[in-house]
Amino acid sequence: MTYKITVIEGDGIGPEITRQAVSVLQKAAGLCGFSVKITKALLGGEAIDQTENPLPEETIEICKASDAVFLGAVGGPKWDGLPGNMRPEAGLLKLRSSLELFANLRPAVAYPALRAASPLKDELLKDGLDLLVVRELTGGIYFGERGRRHVNGEEAAFDTEEYLESEIRRVSKVAFELAEKRSGRLCSVDKANVLESSRLWRETVTALSKEYPEVLLSHMYVDNAAMQLIRNPGQFDVIVTNNMFGDILSDESAIITGSLGMLPSASLGGTQLGLYEPVHGSAPDIAGKDMANPIAAILSVAMMLKYSLGEPAAAGMIEKAVEHALLSGARTPDIAKAGEAASGTREMGERIVKELDLA
Ligand code: IPM
Ligand code: MG
Repeated sequence: MTYKITVIEGDGIGPEITRQAVSVLQKAAGLCGFSVKITKALLGGEAIDQTENPLPEETIEICKASDAVFLGAVGGPKWDGLPGNMRPEAGLLKLRSSLELFANLRPAVAYPALRAASPLKDELLKDGLDLLVVRELTGGIYFGERGRRHVNGEEAAFDTEEYLESEIRRVSKVAFELAEKRSGRLCSVDKANVLESSRLWRETVTALSKEYPEVLLSHMYVDNAAMQLIRNPGQFDVIVTNNMFGDILSDESAIITGSLGMLPSASLGGTQLGLYEPVHGSAPDIAGKDMANPIAAILSVAMMLKYSLGEPAAAGMIEKAVEHALLSGARTPDIAKAGEAASGTREMGERIVKELDLA
């Protein structure tokens, strides 16, 4: 079996973490008896520099012709001055919507070996942490009408939050199905005490819950959810929420585990094709310094094997290898204790590859 994988290295630390993720993918493929054919594509700042377009048409075509897409990260100060629709981030948003990837899975797992790296008190994480944020990814305020106008002679700007019932239903369905396979608890996060779009969100999720009698559904306002995540993260299993709230809460849940550098993500739609990217950004301040943590990228490869390629054994091997590397003391600077020796991006990747060999 040969899988067609599109690899977008992107900007900032994107290329260096992608290199490690690809070598882990190739190692796992060799061990599990399949192969991968990699095609590179451009997105974000790199694409702007080479084609003056953050998402060249060719990239969409290459992605559509593949089994899965891996992305490092996009963006950086170099492109910050560009108009909104020409920025690297616009390319990423457009790629997600062109591929109709409406459900973004962002798992936050606290590794026992990294307990000290979490900003939360020990007692809050003593039972571990394993939660999953399901973020709506192709609708809401990130895609609504926006613009500038003049109001009473002064400059004004607006963005619009709008959801179709069908958009809410399809992402909630994904969340219910995942909750069914996990602990059976699903918390839907909204701002239904203020926003009409959130009231529709809540009605739709509640109506859908009738089809999932095994899942215990709860609702929480987003401000409370942000607070509860640091007060008692263990109360959550699966969280489902809109595009913007999911963007914010997934960064928060990520840092609880110790570092943003640990969190993978999968963006799924109605087909096998998925987009896999670390939750962290392009971290321009440490780009090219061999300091970035490649684990989020490597775990994104594991998600790709599970959700798009149907190779759960290879995915499990990678997750185990990451765990073992951490247990054996491998640390990049973001997860090292003060004064502790740290590995670079490449060395961390190599240690994980070595653990795969030992498995
Ligand atoms: C994320 C990022 C992106 C988003 C940016 C880079 C457009 O913050 O994946 O969480 O807002 O979705
Ligand atoms: Mg984000």
